[in-house]
Amino acid sequence: MIVITGASSGIGLELAKLYQKDGKKVVNISRRESEFAEVNILRDLREGSGIQEAVQEVEKIDEPIEAVINCVGVYTEQEFGKITETEINRLMASNVKAPMLLISELLERIKKDQADILNVVSKAGTKGGTTTPVSPVYTASKWAEQGFTFSLQTALKDTPSRVTSFCPGGIKTNLFKKAGANVDVSNWMNPADIAAFIKHILELPKNIEVSEVLINRKSTS
Ligand SMILES: NC(=O)c1ccc[n+]([C@@H]2O[C@H](COP(=O)([O-])OP(=O)(O)OC[C@H]3O[C@@H](n4cnc5c(N)ncnc54)[C@H](OP(=O)(O)O)[C@@H]3O)[C@@H](O)[C@H]2O)c1
Repeated sequence: MIVITGASSGIGLELAKLYQKDGKKVVNISRRESEFAEVNILRDLREGSGIQEAVQEVEKIDEPIEAVINCVGVYTEQEFGKITETEINRLMASNVKAPMLLISELLERIKKDQADILNVVSKAGTKGGTTTPVSPVYTASKWAEQGFTFSLQTALKDTPSRVTSFCPGGIKTNLFKKAGANVDVSNWMNPADIAAFIKHILELPKNIEVSEVLINRKSTS
């Protein structure tokens, strides 16, 4: 089975669609259902209790985990001078605590099943804050997610489980609209293309670990 956090929309939804087409059992963990998942575990992953309950539900499924793909994430536009504690907590809980605690709680099962992990971080987690004008709260959360992903890579380096830090630039999803951001994403990358690339990475021979991927958005005109 393929476990996807955030398969109810955007990149995760496109991944669920591809894996379902391939006949894989897709397990979605998010607050809303994914039409392409065979199992929907509806939990708020900002809550530690929600993460633990989701892990218990996954543990009950008697099928090896092939991959855990973390797409859970939220955006904010808050800039310096307007940053609120509430927004810092919301982003850190969704973008850092959720994937980190979920993987930590599932780690023994991941090792047993020799499952791979791919975290959808962001270009903001590699270059954000240095060259790109992206919200500092989002950027900070994605650098943290990047740090935890590399730590995980080191922790699993002598096991068959591969860990990928996947860092794309702008993709045409509702991530920004949901945050009330006034961003025109109409010419940004297609989430279906990004999902196909993620699936390809995970289907490479098991002796290839794509440790880090940085994808830049190009203008086509
Ligand atoms: N779009 C971009 O330009 C871009 C670029 C780089 C990286 N990313 C990253 O890619 C990932 C996916 O984003 P997307 O663009 O596909 O956006 P999206 O369509 O908004 O998807 C985000 C997913 O996260 C889930 N989620 C959010 N908060 C949650 C919570 N508290 N509990 C459980 N699930 C939660 C949502 O499900 P529910 O609402 O159903 O809970 C949704 O399925 C994010 O980590 C984002 O930071 C996006």
